[in-house]
Amino acid sequence: MKEIPVANTLAELRGGIATWRMARQRIGLVPTMGALHRGHLALVEEAKKRADKVVVSIFVNPAQFAPHEDFDRYPRTFDADLTKLAEAGHADAIYAPSVSEMYPEGFATRINVGGPSAGLETDFRPHFFGGVATVVSKLFLQCLPDSAVFGEKDYQQLQVVKRMVRDLDLPIEIIGAATIREDDGLALSSRNAYLNAAQRQIAAQLNKILRLAAKRARDGVPVPQAEAEAQAALLNAGFDKVDYVAIRDARSLQQLDTLNDEARILAAAWLDKTRLIDNMPV
Ligand code: PAF
Repeated sequence: MKEIPVANTLAELRGGIATWRMARQRIGLVPTMGALHRGHLALVEEAKKRADKVVVSIFVNPAQFAPHEDFDRYPRTFDADLTKLAEAGHADAIYAPSVSEMYPEGFATRINVGGPSAGLETDFRPHFFGGVATVVSKLFLQCLPDSAVFGEKDYQQLQVVKRMVRDLDLPIEIIGAATIREDDGLALSSRNAYLNAAQRQIAAQLNKILRLAAKRARDGVPVPQAEAEAQAALLNAGFDKVDYVAIRDARSLQQLDTLNDEARILAAAWLDKTRLIDNMPV
């Protein structure tokens, strides 16, 4: 098993990448917050299909958590992450900066993306996309990749990153990779580690209920009714709270009165203190 070099500073990262650039190698980036699972490894594999060298960043980004959220208890499994990446064999470098390396004393810039960041997650986590866009734009400028891979599991985030890259003319191809699921349909997520056995059973209903709602909408049930039915079904299945179930235009994420050809259903729901999100095409 080949050991993957780890850069903890921007200088180390740039030093490694410079050699690849001089050799005209294409660079792919997979931004992560660690606690890696099969879903992340699939993103790295996807990145390697399009690039000669793949950098995986591991950084739990404080800028995208509100003070009351789970930044402190977010799973940090760095050694296990390194082993998984080394075993999978697709990553060529790991970038794991400290918080002070990423946000040095006096850091005062925030990137705010409009368009697809409106509504959905933003209604419940207003700080979130500003934090994501800030760290992702920093990672892009630090690494200067030719391409970057993001999971469709965080579908709104993927649209926000695409919009940011387009609006800022960043010469980076953004690739969305399909959600990887457990056998019972639960989307893989680092936050699934918070679930106890009973919650884990209920969690699998999220995917099933969204699938049914998508079918109901395709069968002609009005969009607001399909959304309301799914919301009620989630509460009935044992979810403690539903932030939203929404059928939206897949690109703009604008509301749809009637279904179009490219619609997506998205949802966020809580099991006690654990917030799960999922989405799929309608
Ligand atoms: O999706 C994530 O894990 C994070 O939001 C990201 C893109 C790595 C930015 O911190």
